[in-house]
Amino acid sequence: MADSGFTSSTQAVPAVGAVPRHIAIIMDGNGRWAKKRFMPRVAGHSRGVDSVRATIRSCMERGVEYLTLFAFSSENWRRPADEVSFLMQLFIKSLQKEVARLHQNGIRFRVIGDLSRFDAGLVEVIKAAEVLTAGNTRFNLTIAANYGGRWDILQAVSRVIASRPPGSSEVTEAALAAELSMNFAPEPDLFIRTGGEQRISNFLLWQLAYTELHFTDTLWPDFDSKALDLAIASYQGRERRFGRTSDQVSSAAGAANAERHA
Ligand code: IPE
Ligand code: IPE
Ligand code: MG
Repeated sequence: MADSGFTSSTQAVPAVGAVPRHIAIIMDGNGRWAKKRFMPRVAGHSRGVDSVRATIRSCMERGVEYLTLFAFSSENWRRPADEVSFLMQLFIKSLQKEVARLHQNGIRFRVIGDLSRFDAGLVEVIKAAEVLTAGNTRFNLTIAANYGGRWDILQAVSRVIASRPPGSSEVTEAALAAELSMNFAPEPDLFIRTGGEQRISNFLLWQLAYTELHFTDTLWPDFDSKALDLAIASYQGRERRFGRTSDQVSSAAGAANAERHA
């Protein structure tokens, strides 16, 4: 079972204007960024690493607690072999270069996804980084690599079935959520997709049920602290209702406020 004392975000209503605790990003548009500059697609991936670094820093400065980045989907194996292999090398090189700094900054690093298709060398670097940073609590950085939302739900279902006593019938949301690969985190409050497409592309399917969605045309290598602030400001202007009416949400917020000031 997960150690999460988290209430599902489908139950708890965060205050309007609060900083999102968990931001999940589909970092898209690297190829187009490069193409516009008559550069090979992979040059866009290299530049994308700078945006990753800057986004981690900006999120930490703004009080975000969890940042989850989609780096490689289970469908991205369909790309040309040389692009896939460049991405793998870039992942290893960037991780090796950055891991000490992540650790110094109190960042807990995790990878979610099906690692079984990765080279042993890459898996080793990932595991070492996870072990090194396992005690850190200041910030949670999660990279989704060879990740697919459907894969995640299926592996969770398989585990739930395998661990059930014979004859038990009901599968609860909590039991399933506890087996998902992000069982350590609250559900994302804010989802951002750069690069102009407006789709989920098999990212965190289960957890995005009530996440606020923000789509921007900015290409990932151009995504900076200003672009992040626009996304956060858009989030802060929204009222999350989780099925309730607006009146219910505002009177609950008013009551909570009165209690705090009593
Ligand atoms: C996102 O950028 C990075 C990965 C999927 C690894 P893309 O490579 O998809 O860039 P576009 O969408 O082709 O511009
Ligand atoms: C989604 O981007 C996956 C990542 C950013 C890692 P894609 O560029 O692969 O998504 P589609 O294929 O356009 O939906
Ligand atoms: Mg793309």
